[in-house]
Amino acid sequence: FDISAFQEQLIDWYQANKRDLPWRHDQDPYKVWVSEIMLQQTRVDTVIPYFQRFISNYPSLYDLAYADQQDVLKTWEGLGYYSRVRNLQNAVREVVASYGGEVPNDPKQLGKLKGVGPYTKGAILSIAFDKPEPAVDGNVMRVLSRVLKIEDDIAQPKVKKQFEGYAAALISHDDPSSFNQGIMELGALVCTPKEPMCMFCPVQEHCRAFQEGIEQELPVKSKA
Ligand code: ADE
Repeated sequence: FDISAFQEQLIDWYQANKRDLPWRHDQDPYKVWVSEIMLQQTRVDTVIPYFQRFISNYPSLYDLAYADQQDVLKTWEGLGYYSRVRNLQNAVREVVASYGGEVPNDPKQLGKLKGVGPYTKGAILSIAFDKPEPAVDGNVMRVLSRVLKIEDDIAQPKVKKQFEGYAAALISHDDPSSFNQGIMELGALVCTPKEPMCMFCPVQEHCRAFQEGIEQELPVKSKA
């Protein structure tokens, strides 16, 4: 497996094909954080207007930290999973109290904040701080299960940890942000759950599932 070629083809494709999404306009860790929390359980198209409204109401981490919780919940209304925004506000208050308002770029400190699990931590570290940390969600597991022909059940927590290991081994150290967002974008636009468009895939030549014609059988995911 030619890791350098894989990284380069993925990153070049991402640079040329990435969607213009509002959270891609700057690297402010607070905005990256807000977007990644919204995107965890909600589709991109739905998130866009909520993200814009949220950031115009709370442009900085301090604005959110000092805001009234009821107002914040109101801004989130319609997105659902309200514990996400309660945790987010608790966490930004913790950032003000303990880190002078600067989102920590230390994985240990970041991972201790409320609502910041391994995915969110990796997304913030790579996208906002250019650190080579994996950010593995369902989309990323789908892409990697196909490229590497991993037949383990992605519903199992220990399998997700394995994927974090594969992603850590593959990630570009030159441009971790484009690498991680490139995999996400590939999963969203090309390497889709049903009928993936392998003929448009920038990393087709590296993909074991494509070579064997089994892309539709992966990933393996048990119910319940
Ligand atoms: N899904 C999760 N994170 C994303 C991001 N940064 N851009 C697009 N889709 C995403």
